Amino acid sequence: MASSSTESLRQLYEELPYPNVPISTSGRGALDGLYRMSLTTAQYARTRAIVPSEGSLILNAGCGSGWETLILAEANPGARLVVCDLSAESVRVTERRLRYHGFVNVELHALNLFDLEQLGLQFDFISLNDVLYLLDDPVAGLKVLKRVLKPDGILRANLHHAYQREVIFRMQKAFQLLGLFELPTPEASNLVREFMNNLVSDEARAALRWNPEIYKDDTNMRANYLLPSDKGFLIPDLMRMLKEAELGLVCLVDYSDWDPALLFKEMPEWLKTELDKLSPADQNHFYELIYPNHRLIDFWAEHPGSSIVFPWSDTDWLGGTVQLNPVLADNPEFRQNFGKAYEKKLEFAMNWPGASRGRLKILPEQMTWLGSLLQGPTPVITLVEQANQAKKLEPETAQEQVLTYLTGLEEFLFVMLDPGAK
Ligand SMILES: C[S@@+](CC[C@H](N)C(=O)[O-])C[C@H]1O[C@@H](n2cnc3c(N)ncnc32)[C@H](O)[C@@H]1O
Repeated sequence: MASSSTESLRQLYEELPYPNVPISTSGRGALDGLYRMSLTTAQYARTRAIVPSEGSLILNAGCGSGWETLILAEANPGARLVVCDLSAESVRVTERRLRYHGFVNVELHALNLFDLEQLGLQFDFISLNDVLYLLDDPVAGLKVLKRVLKPDGILRANLHHAYQREVIFRMQKAFQLLGLFELPTPEASNLVREFMNNLVSDEARAALRWNPEIYKDDTNMRANYLLPSDKGFLIPDLMRMLKEAELGLVCLVDYSDWDPALLFKEMPEWLKTELDKLSPADQNHFYELIYPNHRLIDFWAEHPGSSIVFPWSDTDWLGGTVQLNPVLADNPEFRQNFGKAYEKKLEFAMNWPGASRGRLKILPEQMTWLGSLLQGPTPVITLVEQANQAKKLEPETAQEQVLTYLTGLEEFLFVMLDPGAK
Protein backbone atom coordinates (compact mmCIF):
# COMPACT_ATOMS: atom_id res chain seq x y z
CA MET A 1 0.00 0.00 0.00
CA ALA A 2 1.33 3.43 -0.93
CA SER A 3 1.81 5.79 2.07
CA SER A 4 -0.28 8.97 2.20
CA SER A 5 2.79 11.08 1.29
CA THR A 6 3.47 8.88 -1.77
CA GLU A 7 -0.16 9.28 -2.80
CA SER A 8 0.02 13.09 -2.43
CA LEU A 9 3.19 13.14 -4.57
CA ARG A 10 1.49 11.00 -7.20
CA GLN A 11 -1.49 13.34 -7.29
CA LEU A 12 0.75 16.41 -7.47
CA TYR A 13 2.69 15.08 -10.47
CA GLU A 14 -0.49 13.80 -12.16
CA GLU A 15 -1.66 17.40 -12.10
CA LEU A 16 1.69 19.05 -12.92
CA PRO A 17 4.28 16.78 -14.57
CA TYR A 18 7.71 18.24 -13.78
CA PRO A 19 9.48 20.16 -15.25
CA ASN A 20 7.27 22.31 -17.42
CA VAL A 21 9.49 22.32 -20.54
CA PRO A 22 7.86 22.37 -24.00
CA ILE A 23 7.89 18.97 -25.74
CA SER A 24 9.73 20.38 -28.76
CA THR A 25 12.71 21.76 -26.77
CA SER A 26 15.88 19.85 -27.60
CA GLY A 27 18.17 18.62 -24.83
CA ARG A 28 21.27 18.78 -27.04
CA GLY A 29 22.26 22.24 -25.82
CA ALA A 30 22.16 21.18 -22.16
CA LEU A 31 25.86 20.34 -22.05
CA ASP A 32 26.11 20.25 -18.24
CA GLY A 33 23.10 17.90 -18.07
CA LEU A 34 24.60 15.69 -20.79
CA TYR A 35 27.82 15.49 -18.74
CA ARG A 36 25.92 14.55 -15.56
CA MET A 37 23.89 11.85 -17.31
CA SER A 38 26.53 10.25 -19.50
CA LEU A 39 27.34 6.64 -18.64
CA THR A 40 30.73 6.93 -20.38
CA THR A 41 31.67 9.96 -18.27
CA ALA A 42 30.53 8.27 -15.04
CA GLN A 43 32.39 5.04 -15.82
CA TYR A 44 35.54 6.97 -16.70
CA ALA A 45 35.31 8.79 -13.35
CA ARG A 46 34.85 5.41 -11.67
CA THR A 47 37.49 3.22 -13.34
CA ARG A 48 39.29 5.28 -16.01
CA ALA A 49 37.94 2.84 -18.61
CA ILE A 50 36.22 4.19 -21.74
CA VAL A 51 32.89 2.34 -21.74
CA PRO A 52 30.65 3.12 -24.72
CA SER A 53 26.93 3.62 -24.11
CA GLU A 54 25.92 1.50 -27.13
CA GLY A 55 24.01 -1.59 -26.03
CA SER A 56 23.81 -0.56 -22.36
CA LEU A 57 20.62 -0.71 -20.29
CA ILE A 58 19.76 2.53 -18.50
CA LEU A 59 17.06 3.21 -15.91
CA ASN A 60 15.49 6.61 -15.35
CA ALA A 61 13.57 6.34 -12.06
CA GLY A 62 11.07 9.17 -11.44
CA CYS A 63 11.22 10.46 -15.02
CA GLY A 64 8.75 13.33 -14.48
CA SER A 65 7.81 15.00 -17.77
CA GLY A 66 10.76 13.32 -19.51
CA TRP A 67 13.16 16.26 -19.77
CA GLU A 68 15.77 14.27 -17.82
CA THR A 69 14.97 11.19 -19.94
CA LEU A 70 15.51 13.13 -23.16
CA ILE A 71 18.93 14.30 -21.97
CA LEU A 72 19.76 10.74 -20.88
CA ALA A 73 18.79 9.48 -24.35
CA GLU A 74 20.90 12.15 -26.03
CA ALA A 75 23.89 11.63 -23.72
CA ASN A 76 23.92 7.87 -24.25
CA PRO A 77 23.61 7.00 -27.95
CA GLY A 78 22.60 3.42 -28.67
CA ALA A 79 21.47 2.69 -25.09
CA ARG A 80 18.12 1.08 -24.25
CA LEU A 81 16.14 3.13 -21.74
CA VAL A 82 13.71 1.91 -19.11
CA VAL A 83 11.66 4.65 -17.51
CA CYS A 84 9.32 4.71 -14.52
CA ASP A 85 7.32 7.22 -12.53
CA LEU A 86 4.60 7.08 -9.88
CA SER A 87 2.46 9.31 -12.06
CA ALA A 88 0.91 7.76 -15.19
CA GLU A 89 0.40 11.22 -16.71
CA SER A 90 4.13 12.02 -16.29
CA VAL A 91 4.97 8.77 -18.08
CA ARG A 92 2.60 9.70 -20.93
CA VAL A 93 4.27 13.13 -21.33
CA THR A 94 7.69 11.43 -21.30
CA GLU A 95 6.57 9.05 -24.03
CA ARG A 96 5.30 11.94 -26.17
CA ARG A 97 8.56 13.88 -25.67
CA LEU A 98 10.79 10.94 -26.59
CA ARG A 99 8.71 10.07 -29.64
CA TYR A 100 8.83 13.70 -30.81
CA HIS A 101 12.64 13.61 -30.68
CA GLY A 102 12.82 10.22 -32.42
CA PHE A 103 13.84 8.01 -29.48
CA VAL A 104 12.04 4.68 -29.70
CA ASN A 105 14.30 2.24 -27.83
CA VAL A 106 12.43 2.95 -24.60
CA GLU A 107 10.25 0.94 -22.21
CA LEU A 108 7.91 3.02 -20.02
CA HIS A 109 6.17 2.04 -16.77
CA ALA A 110 3.81 3.82 -14.39
CA LEU A 111 5.51 2.23 -11.40
CA ASN A 112 6.68 3.06 -7.89
CA LEU A 113 10.47 2.73 -7.84
CA PHE A 114 10.09 0.49 -4.75
CA ASP A 115 8.52 -2.08 -7.12
CA LEU A 116 11.33 -2.00 -9.71
CA GLU A 117 12.45 -5.55 -8.98
CA GLN A 118 9.20 -6.73 -10.61
CA LEU A 119 10.76 -5.86 -13.99
CA GLY A 120 13.46 -8.52 -13.49
CA LEU A 121 16.10 -6.23 -15.06
CA GLN A 122 19.64 -5.20 -14.06
CA PHE A 123 20.97 -1.85 -15.19
CA ASP A 124 24.35 -0.50 -16.30
CA PHE A 125 23.43 3.02 -15.27
CA ILE A 126 20.60 4.42 -13.13
CA SER A 127 19.72 8.11 -13.00
CA LEU A 128 17.24 9.67 -10.63
CA ASN A 129 17.27 13.40 -10.61
CA ASP A 130 15.36 15.39 -7.97
CA VAL A 131 13.63 12.27 -6.62
CA LEU A 132 15.56 10.76 -3.69
CA TYR A 133 14.85 13.60 -1.24
CA LEU A 134 11.10 13.19 -1.85
CA LEU A 135 11.01 9.59 -0.59
CA ASP A 136 9.80 8.90 2.99
CA ASP A 137 12.79 6.58 3.39
CA PRO A 138 15.57 7.46 0.92
CA VAL A 139 17.84 4.69 2.27
CA ALA A 140 15.16 2.07 1.52
CA GLY A 141 14.98 3.57 -2.01
CA LEU A 142 18.76 3.31 -2.42
CA LYS A 143 18.62 -0.34 -1.28
CA VAL A 144 16.09 -1.17 -4.01
CA LEU A 145 18.18 0.63 -6.64
CA LYS A 146 21.28 -1.24 -5.52
CA ARG A 147 19.44 -4.53 -6.07
CA VAL A 148 18.70 -3.64 -9.71
CA LEU A 149 22.21 -2.25 -10.40
CA LYS A 150 24.65 -4.52 -12.27
CA PRO A 151 27.85 -5.42 -10.34
CA ASP A 152 29.87 -2.81 -12.27
CA GLY A 153 26.96 -0.41 -12.79
CA ILE A 154 26.72 3.20 -11.62
CA LEU A 155 23.92 4.98 -9.82
CA ARG A 156 23.63 8.75 -10.25
CA ALA A 157 21.26 10.52 -7.87
CA ASN A 158 21.02 13.70 -5.85
CA LEU A 159 19.74 15.22 -2.63
CA HIS A 160 18.62 18.73 -1.82
CA HIS A 161 21.20 20.63 0.19
CA ALA A 162 20.09 21.44 3.75
CA TYR A 163 21.88 24.83 3.97
CA GLN A 164 21.61 26.11 0.39
CA ARG A 165 17.85 25.57 0.46
CA GLU A 166 17.26 26.56 4.06
CA VAL A 167 15.06 29.56 3.13
CA ILE A 168 12.79 27.43 0.96
CA PHE A 169 12.43 24.85 3.76
CA ARG A 170 11.47 27.64 6.20
CA MET A 171 8.89 29.02 3.78
CA GLN A 172 7.44 25.54 3.22
CA LYS A 173 6.92 25.31 7.01
CA ALA A 174 5.36 28.78 7.12
CA PHE A 175 2.92 27.99 4.29
CA GLN A 176 2.11 24.64 5.88
CA LEU A 177 1.18 26.46 9.11
CA LEU A 178 -1.18 28.62 7.04
CA GLY A 179 -2.82 25.51 5.53
CA LEU A 180 -1.71 26.33 1.94
CA PHE A 181 -0.53 22.78 1.26
CA GLU A 182 -4.15 21.60 1.66
CA LEU A 183 -5.51 23.90 -1.05
CA PRO A 184 -5.76 23.26 -4.81
CA THR A 185 -2.55 24.39 -6.56
CA PRO A 186 -3.86 27.51 -8.41
CA GLU A 187 -5.44 28.87 -5.23
CA ALA A 188 -2.40 28.13 -3.06
CA SER A 189 -0.04 29.64 -5.67
CA ASN A 190 -2.10 32.82 -5.85
CA LEU A 191 -1.98 33.17 -2.08
CA VAL A 192 1.84 32.82 -2.14
CA ARG A 193 1.99 35.53 -4.85
CA GLU A 194 -0.24 37.81 -2.79
CA PHE A 195 1.86 37.16 0.32
CA MET A 196 5.11 38.00 -1.50
CA ASN A 197 3.73 41.08 -3.27
CA ASN A 198 2.61 42.52 0.06
CA LEU A 199 5.92 42.08 1.83
CA VAL A 200 7.29 45.41 2.95
CA SER A 201 10.35 45.65 0.65
CA ASP A 202 12.23 44.18 -2.29
CA GLU A 203 14.98 43.21 0.18
CA ALA A 204 12.48 41.12 2.15
CA ARG A 205 11.33 39.42 -1.06
CA ALA A 206 14.89 38.82 -2.20
CA ALA A 207 15.75 37.34 1.20
CA LEU A 208 12.95 34.82 0.62
CA ARG A 209 14.29 34.14 -2.92
CA TRP A 210 11.14 35.51 -4.54
CA ASN A 211 11.29 35.92 -8.31
CA PRO A 212 7.91 36.85 -9.86
CA GLU A 213 8.99 35.69 -13.34
CA ILE A 214 9.87 32.19 -12.17
CA TYR A 215 6.79 31.90 -9.96
CA LYS A 216 4.31 32.86 -12.68
CA ASP A 217 4.45 29.11 -13.29
CA ASP A 218 2.50 26.93 -10.83
CA THR A 219 4.89 24.03 -11.56
CA ASN A 220 7.79 26.07 -10.17
CA MET A 221 5.70 27.10 -7.15
CA ARG A 222 4.97 23.44 -6.45
CA ALA A 223 8.65 22.57 -6.95
CA ASN A 224 9.73 25.01 -4.23
CA TYR A 225 7.56 26.92 -1.73
CA LEU A 226 4.71 24.41 -1.99
CA LEU A 227 6.63 21.13 -2.47
CA PRO A 228 5.44 18.42 -0.06
CA SER A 229 7.92 15.83 1.30
CA ASP A 230 10.97 17.99 0.50
CA LYS A 231 14.02 17.32 2.69
CA GLY A 232 17.57 18.68 2.98
CA PHE A 233 20.86 16.86 3.57
CA LEU A 234 24.58 17.42 4.16
CA ILE A 235 27.60 15.41 2.98
CA PRO A 236 27.81 13.40 6.26
CA ASP A 237 24.12 12.45 5.74
CA LEU A 238 24.93 11.21 2.23
CA MET A 239 27.86 9.15 3.56
CA ARG A 240 25.68 7.61 6.29
CA MET A 241 22.88 6.84 3.83
CA LEU A 242 25.24 5.17 1.35
CA LYS A 243 26.75 3.12 4.16
CA GLU A 244 23.33 1.98 5.34
CA ALA A 245 22.39 1.05 1.76
CA GLU A 246 25.77 -0.71 1.35
CA LEU A 247 26.77 1.47 -1.58
CA GLY A 248 30.11 3.19 -2.15
CA LEU A 249 30.61 6.79 -3.22
CA VAL A 250 32.51 7.19 -6.51
CA CYS A 251 32.62 10.98 -6.11
CA LEU A 252 30.35 13.99 -6.42
CA VAL A 253 29.37 14.48 -10.05
CA ASP A 254 30.51 18.13 -9.95
CA TYR A 255 33.42 17.25 -7.62
CA SER A 256 35.70 20.06 -8.63
CA ASP A 257 33.00 22.66 -7.87
CA TRP A 258 33.32 21.52 -4.24
CA ASP A 259 37.04 22.15 -4.01
CA PRO A 260 37.88 24.33 -0.95
CA ALA A 261 40.67 25.92 -3.04
CA LEU A 262 37.93 27.73 -5.00
CA LEU A 263 37.09 29.72 -1.87
CA PHE A 264 40.45 31.44 -1.37
CA LYS A 265 42.49 34.04 -3.22
CA GLU A 266 45.41 32.13 -1.85
CA MET A 267 45.02 29.31 0.61
CA PRO A 268 47.16 29.72 3.77
CA GLU A 269 49.75 26.95 4.14
CA TRP A 270 48.42 25.76 7.52
CA LEU A 271 44.97 25.37 6.04
CA LYS A 272 46.26 23.41 3.05
CA THR A 273 48.15 21.09 5.43
CA GLU A 274 45.06 20.52 7.59
CA LEU A 275 42.73 19.98 4.60
CA ASP A 276 45.13 17.47 3.05
CA LYS A 277 44.65 15.33 6.16
CA LEU A 278 40.89 15.08 5.52
CA SER A 279 39.12 12.43 3.44
CA PRO A 280 37.58 13.64 0.14
CA ALA A 281 34.11 13.52 1.77
CA ASP A 282 35.29 15.63 4.72
CA GLN A 283 36.83 18.13 2.30
CA ASN A 284 33.43 18.37 0.58
CA HIS A 285 31.82 18.82 4.01
CA PHE A 286 34.28 21.60 4.85
CA TYR A 287 33.31 23.32 1.59
CA GLU A 288 29.57 23.13 2.32
CA LEU A 289 30.08 24.50 5.84
CA ILE A 290 31.89 27.55 4.47
CA TYR A 291 30.00 28.17 1.25
CA PRO A 292 26.81 26.17 0.65
CA ASN A 293 26.13 27.31 -2.90
CA HIS A 294 24.98 24.03 -4.49
CA ARG A 295 21.25 23.28 -4.55
CA LEU A 296 21.98 19.60 -5.03
CA ILE A 297 24.44 17.09 -3.68
CA ASP A 298 24.77 15.20 -6.95
CA PHE A 299 26.67 11.92 -6.69
CA TRP A 300 27.79 8.77 -8.49
CA ALA A 301 27.62 5.57 -6.41
CA GLU A 302 28.65 1.97 -7.03
CA HIS A 303 28.70 -1.42 -5.35
CA PRO A 304 31.28 -0.78 -2.61
CA GLY A 305 34.90 -1.44 -3.48
CA SER A 306 34.08 -2.38 -7.08
CA SER A 307 36.62 0.08 -8.46
CA ILE A 308 39.97 1.57 -7.61
CA VAL A 309 41.34 4.41 -9.70
CA PHE A 310 45.09 4.87 -10.17
CA PRO A 311 46.39 7.94 -11.95
CA TRP A 312 47.98 7.29 -15.35
CA SER A 313 51.78 7.32 -15.60
CA ASP A 314 53.66 9.24 -18.32
CA THR A 315 54.30 5.87 -20.00
CA ASP A 316 50.54 5.18 -20.10
CA TRP A 317 50.00 8.55 -21.71
CA LEU A 318 52.78 8.30 -24.27
CA GLY A 319 51.75 4.78 -25.34
CA GLY A 320 48.04 5.60 -25.40
CA THR A 321 45.30 7.18 -27.45
CA VAL A 322 43.38 10.21 -26.27
CA GLN A 323 39.88 11.35 -27.22
CA LEU A 324 37.47 14.13 -26.39
CA ASN A 325 34.74 13.20 -23.90
CA PRO A 326 31.96 11.92 -26.24
CA VAL A 327 29.57 14.45 -24.67
CA LEU A 328 31.77 17.16 -26.23
CA ALA A 329 32.73 15.27 -29.39
CA ASP A 330 29.03 14.72 -30.27
CA ASN A 331 27.95 18.28 -29.50
CA PRO A 332 27.53 20.44 -32.64
CA GLU A 333 27.98 23.74 -30.80
CA PHE A 334 31.15 22.61 -29.07
CA ARG A 335 32.55 21.22 -32.35
CA GLN A 336 31.87 24.49 -34.09
CA ASN A 337 33.51 26.67 -31.41
CA PHE A 338 36.46 24.35 -30.84
CA GLY A 339 36.93 24.00 -34.63
CA LYS A 340 36.91 27.77 -35.05
CA ALA A 341 39.55 28.24 -32.33
CA TYR A 342 41.67 25.53 -34.05
CA GLU A 343 41.36 27.04 -37.52
CA LYS A 344 41.86 30.67 -36.53
CA LYS A 345 44.37 29.94 -33.75
CA LEU A 346 42.29 31.56 -31.01
CA GLU A 347 42.36 31.09 -27.28
CA PHE A 348 39.70 28.60 -26.14
CA ALA A 349 38.02 28.32 -22.70
CA MET A 350 37.20 24.71 -21.82
CA ASN A 351 34.41 24.43 -19.30
CA TRP A 352 31.24 22.52 -18.55
CA PRO A 353 28.56 25.24 -18.81
CA GLY A 354 26.97 26.16 -15.53
CA ALA A 355 30.04 24.92 -13.71
CA SER A 356 33.00 26.75 -12.27
CA ARG A 357 34.93 23.48 -12.38
CA GLY A 358 37.69 22.97 -14.85
CA ARG A 359 37.68 26.36 -16.53
CA LEU A 360 40.88 25.74 -18.45
CA LYS A 361 42.22 28.37 -20.75
CA ILE A 362 43.87 26.87 -23.82
CA LEU A 363 46.36 29.24 -25.41
CA PRO A 364 46.22 29.71 -29.21
CA GLU A 365 49.56 27.96 -29.79
CA GLN A 366 48.31 24.87 -27.93
CA MET A 367 45.17 24.75 -30.08
CA THR A 368 47.44 23.96 -33.07
CA TRP A 369 47.78 20.35 -31.87
CA LEU A 370 44.81 19.98 -29.45
CA GLY A 371 42.36 20.93 -32.19
CA SER A 372 43.12 17.72 -34.05
CA LEU A 373 41.17 15.81 -31.36
CA LEU A 374 38.09 16.85 -33.33
CA GLN A 375 39.07 14.17 -35.88
CA GLY A 376 38.58 11.44 -33.24
CA PRO A 377 40.80 9.34 -30.94
CA THR A 378 44.44 10.25 -31.58
CA PRO A 379 47.69 8.64 -30.38
CA VAL A 380 49.30 10.94 -27.81
CA ILE A 381 52.60 10.56 -29.62
CA THR A 382 51.02 12.06 -32.76
CA LEU A 383 49.94 15.10 -30.73
CA VAL A 384 53.50 15.45 -29.41
CA GLU A 385 54.82 15.39 -33.02
CA GLN A 386 52.26 18.00 -34.07
CA ALA A 387 53.18 20.25 -31.13
CA ASN A 388 56.80 19.77 -32.00
CA GLN A 389 56.32 20.75 -35.66
CA ALA A 390 53.99 23.65 -34.98
CA LYS A 391 56.11 25.27 -32.34
CA LYS A 392 59.62 24.12 -33.30
CA LEU A 393 60.27 23.02 -29.74
CA GLU A 394 62.79 20.58 -28.37
CA PRO A 395 61.08 17.14 -28.39
CA GLU A 396 61.20 16.91 -24.60
CA THR A 397 59.61 20.34 -24.16
CA ALA A 398 56.83 19.45 -26.61
CA GLN A 399 56.18 16.21 -24.74
CA GLU A 400 56.06 17.97 -21.40
CA GLN A 401 53.64 20.62 -22.66
CA VAL A 402 51.32 18.08 -24.27
CA LEU A 403 51.24 15.92 -21.13
CA THR A 404 50.63 18.94 -18.89
CA TYR A 405 47.65 20.03 -20.98
CA LEU A 406 46.22 16.54 -21.41
CA THR A 407 46.43 15.62 -17.73
CA GLY A 408 44.78 18.95 -16.82
CA LEU A 409 41.98 18.33 -19.30
CA GLU A 410 41.57 14.74 -18.16
CA GLU A 411 41.23 15.73 -14.50
CA PHE A 412 37.99 17.51 -15.42
CA LEU A 413 36.89 14.71 -17.78
CA PHE A 414 37.16 16.85 -20.95
CA VAL A 415 39.38 14.15 -22.49
CA MET A 416 39.80 10.43 -21.85
CA LEU A 417 42.84 8.19 -22.26
CA ASP A 418 42.91 4.65 -23.58
CA PRO A 419 46.39 3.51 -22.51
CA GLY A 420 46.40 0.75 -25.15
CA ALA A 421 47.71 -2.79 -24.71
CA LYS A 422 49.57 -3.38 -21.44
C1 LIG B 1 10.80 16.76 -9.03
S1 LIG B 1 10.23 15.57 -10.15
C2 LIG B 1 11.72 15.20 -11.04
C3 LIG B 1 11.45 14.74 -12.45
C4 LIG B 1 12.69 14.36 -13.26
N1 LIG B 1 13.46 13.35 -12.63
C5 LIG B 1 13.55 15.58 -13.53
O1 LIG B 1 14.57 15.75 -12.86
O2 LIG B 1 13.22 16.36 -14.42
C6 LIG B 1 10.03 14.14 -9.14
C7 LIG B 1 9.41 12.95 -9.86
O3 LIG B 1 9.64 11.77 -9.08
C8 LIG B 1 8.47 10.99 -9.12
N2 LIG B 1 8.47 10.09 -7.94
C9 LIG B 1 8.43 10.46 -6.63
N3 LIG B 1 8.45 9.37 -5.85
C10 LIG B 1 8.51 8.30 -6.68
C11 LIG B 1 8.54 6.89 -6.46
N4 LIG B 1 8.51 6.37 -5.24
N5 LIG B 1 8.61 6.08 -7.54
C12 LIG B 1 8.63 6.60 -8.81
N6 LIG B 1 8.58 7.93 -9.06
C13 LIG B 1 8.53 8.76 -8.01
C14 LIG B 1 7.35 12.00 -9.12
O4 LIG B 1 6.13 11.44 -9.57
C15 LIG B 1 7.91 13.08 -10.05
O5 LIG B 1 7.54 12.88 -11.37
